[in-house]
Amino acid sequence: MTQLPQYKQTGQTITFAFPDHQLQLSVITSAIIRVFENRGENGASYAIEGDKEQPTDFTIKDAGDHYELRTADLLVKIDGDQHVDVYDAAGNPLAVDYRGQRQLLDKGVDKDHEALVEAEGHSVSGSTTGSDSGYYQVVKSLTADEHLYGLGDKTGYLDKRGFEYDNWNTDNPAPQMENFTKLYKSIPVMYGLKNGHPYGLFFDNPYKSHFDMGKESPNYYFYSAVAGNLDYYILGGKTLKAIVSNYTYLTGRVPLPQKWTLGYQQSRWGYSVSQKNVQAIADGLKKYDIPCDAIHLDIDYMRGYRVFTWNNDQYEGDPKKFVTNLKKRGIKIVTIIDPGVKKDPDYNVYNEGVKKGYFVKSPDGTLYINKVWPGDSAFPDFGRPDVQKWWGHNDKFLTDIGVGGVWNDMNEPASFEGAIPDDVVFSDHDKPSTHKKMHNVYGHNMAKATYDGLKEYQRRRPYVITRAAYAGTQKYSTVWTGDNRSIWPHIQMMIPQLCNLGMSGFSFAGTDIGGFGSDTNPELLTRWIEAALFSPLMRNHAAMGTRHQEPWTFGEPTLSIYRKYVKLRYRFIPYLYDLFEKGTKSGLPVMRPLVLNYDNDPRVRDLNDEFMVGENILVAPIVERSQTKRLVYLPAGEWIDFWNNRQYAGNQDIVVDAPLDKLPVFIKKDTILPWGNPVDHISDTPDTEMTFKVFGNQASYDHYQDDGTDFKYQDGEFNHYTISVKNGQVAVNLPHYGFKPAYEKITVELPDKKVSLTFNAVKNDYEA
Ligand code: GLC
Repeated sequence: MTQLPQYKQTGQTITFAFPDHQLQLSVITSAIIRVFENRGENGASYAIEGDKEQPTDFTIKDAGDHYELRTADLLVKIDGDQHVDVYDAAGNPLAVDYRGQRQLLDKGVDKDHEALVEAEGHSVSGSTTGSDSGYYQVVKSLTADEHLYGLGDKTGYLDKRGFEYDNWNTDNPAPQMENFTKLYKSIPVMYGLKNGHPYGLFFDNPYKSHFDMGKESPNYYFYSAVAGNLDYYILGGKTLKAIVSNYTYLTGRVPLPQKWTLGYQQSRWGYSVSQKNVQAIADGLKKYDIPCDAIHLDIDYMRGYRVFTWNNDQYEGDPKKFVTNLKKRGIKIVTIIDPGVKKDPDYNVYNEGVKKGYFVKSPDGTLYINKVWPGDSAFPDFGRPDVQKWWGHNDKFLTDIGVGGVWNDMNEPASFEGAIPDDVVFSDHDKPSTHKKMHNVYGHNMAKATYDGLKEYQRRRPYVITRAAYAGTQKYSTVWTGDNRSIWPHIQMMIPQLCNLGMSGFSFAGTDIGGFGSDTNPELLTRWIEAALFSPLMRNHAAMGTRHQEPWTFGEPTLSIYRKYVKLRYRFIPYLYDLFEKGTKSGLPVMRPLVLNYDNDPRVRDLNDEFMVGENILVAPIVERSQTKRLVYLPAGEWIDFWNNRQYAGNQDIVVDAPLDKLPVFIKKDTILPWGNPVDHISDTPDTEMTFKVFGNQASYDHYQDDGTDFKYQDGEFNHYTISVKNGQVAVNLPHYGFKPAYEKITVELPDKKVSLTFNAVKNDYEA
C-alpha cells in the first residue's frame, strides 16, 4: 500500500500533496465535486460562468488505506496511488479508476504498411496514446451493465459504449456515420448508468480530447487530452434527470427563446441571391398554406460574402424595406454570418479589424490568412472581450435592417486551405494563446459575441444559431447539427443525436429537415417532417446544387402531409414553450431519450428510434424506407394513441400502423396538453384564448404565458396558470398574474365534453 499523502483543507477544497503534484477535490454542491490538478494552464473556464460553489456539508476522513470525502450525494475515495473512486451515497460504485492491465487496440498495421493503407484514403488513426508532452488520460472501469450517453452532437447511437470520439470541432461534410469520431461541437460531458446507477463526468478542458467509450476494452473507458489541466466534475444525483440538471446548473441553461423561434423555418443555400427568389419562397408558403415564421438567408445575400454587408443591388436597393414587408406578413428573416472576414482593403470591417488588431496572427506577428467562402479571409480573435464587443456591434448593421436572428456558421473555424496550424496566435481572454487551445471554444465565443450584440441592439431575446459549440454554448445559442445528407441513416441519426445534445445541455437543437447534402425524395422528406414535428428547432434546409425540397416541390401527397404536420406543430407550440420555460429552471431538455425519463427500465437504455417530448409525449417516427408498420415500446404507465384515443398498458411492445401520413404519437394517460390556436405564424399579439386537451380523467398542468419576445418576464410580467381535472370537474387558476391581458377564455377538452371558462377581471379568476 502506498502511503497516503498529506492534505490541507481550505474552505470546501481539499488539496492532497502527492510527491510529484497536488490534486484538489472541491465540493461545489452535495452532488458536484470538482477534481483538479494544475498542469500549468491558466485562464478561466469558458463553459462555467460565475462561482457555482454553494455552502455544503461534507466530511473527510482517513480510512486507513484511503481517504473518504462524503457529501449527502457522493462518496469519493482517494488512495496513495492517486486513484479517484466515486460512489453514490448508498455506496454503489459510479466512476471507479481502472486498475487492471490495458488492452491496447491492435490495428494490425506496422509503420511500413501504414503509409500504404493511408495512400488509398483509409485512416489508421486511433488515439490510444499521445505524444504531446502535456498528454494525459483518465481511465475508469466499466461493468458489464453500463451504458454511456452525452458527448453532444456525436454520430452513432444513443448509447456511446463501444465507440471512440474526438473533441476537435470539425467541418467534414462527407456522410456522417457511426464511424465519424468528430463533428462540429465539443461537449465533453458524459453520463453513465452503471448497474442502473446514474452519474456524470464533465471534463472542462478545451484542448483536443478523446473519449474511448469501451472500444479498446469492455473493461474500461478513458478520456484523454493533449494538454491542459486535469479538470473534471463528478456529477451525482438520484436519477439521470437530476444529473443532467446538475450539469446544466454548472454550465448554464437554455434561456427562454422568443416564441416564434419554435415555428417552422424555411431555408436553402442559394435563395438569398436575390429578393425575387426569397419573395418566391414567401409566396409559395402562402400559396400552399404552409405556416412559417422565418426564412433563412444563406451567404448569397451579402456583397461578395463580406460579412455585415448586403447586396443591395439584388434587393431593390433597400433590404430594410423588404425585411419589413415580410415581417408584416409574419415572416422573419434570419441571416447567416460566418467568422471569416474577406481580405479586402476597400472593406470597412476588414480595415477596422486590421487597424485595431482584432484578427488572429501567425507566430511571426503577421496577419493570419486562410480561405473560406469570400476567398482570402482574416479570423476575428473571439477569445478577447473587446473583439467580442466589436463583433456584437457589427450585428447592429443587421438589427437595423430588422433581421429576426443571426445564424453563425463555419465557426469551428473551418478553413479551405488546410487546417489552421496549432501555433497561430489566438487569445485566451486577454492573454496570447494558441489555436491549439482556443480552437474548440471559437464558435462558443463567436456565439456569445452575437448573443450580446443582439441583446443590446435588438432588445429581444437573442435568436442565435451556431454550428460549432463547446460546453456551455447553450446559454447563448440554438444549434443545428450541420451538414447532414438526404439519406435514411441521417433521419435515423436525428433521434439519438438530438437526444444526446439535449442531455448535454443543448435542448434547443435541430437537424436540416429533408437533409442538407444529396438529393431528397418525397418519402424521405415526408417522414422527416413527421419525425421533426417536435424537433425544438424546425428548419428545412438544403445545399446549393441539390434537388429542391420546399414542401410543395413534389406535389401530392407530400404537400398535404407536410402541411398537416407543420400545422400540427403550431398546435404543440404552447406545450413546447412551456417545456422551454420549465427547462430554464430544471435544465432538462425538450426532446428526451426514454432512458432520461425511465432510467430504471433496462429496455430503454439503447433505444434509438423513439423519443419523448417532456414527460408525457412519446414519439415513434418511421425512419426506414417503405416501412408502414412498426414496433413501439411503451414504458411503464398507461398510454393513449394520439390519433384514435385507444389506450394501451405500458411495459410492452405494440405494433402500430404507420402509413405514409402517420407519425405514431402516444400521450401518457392523465396528461393535460395546451393546444395552440390554428395560426400561420406566431404573432406578437398575445393569444386571447387557449385550449387544453385532457388525456385520461384526472390530471393537472402548469402553463406559462408571457409576451414571447423580450425580457420583461424577468420583472414578473408573465402568467402562470394551473389547470386541473378531477372526476370530470375542471378548475383553472392563475397563481401568478403579471402579464396582461390574461386569456379571456379557456376551453378544456375532456374525452367526453368541453368546458369553457371566462376570465373574471375583478376576481382575477376563471369561472365556467
Ligand atoms: C455550410 C453550412 C450550411 C450552409 C453552407 C453555405 O456548409 O453548414 O448550412 O448552407 O455552409 O453557407
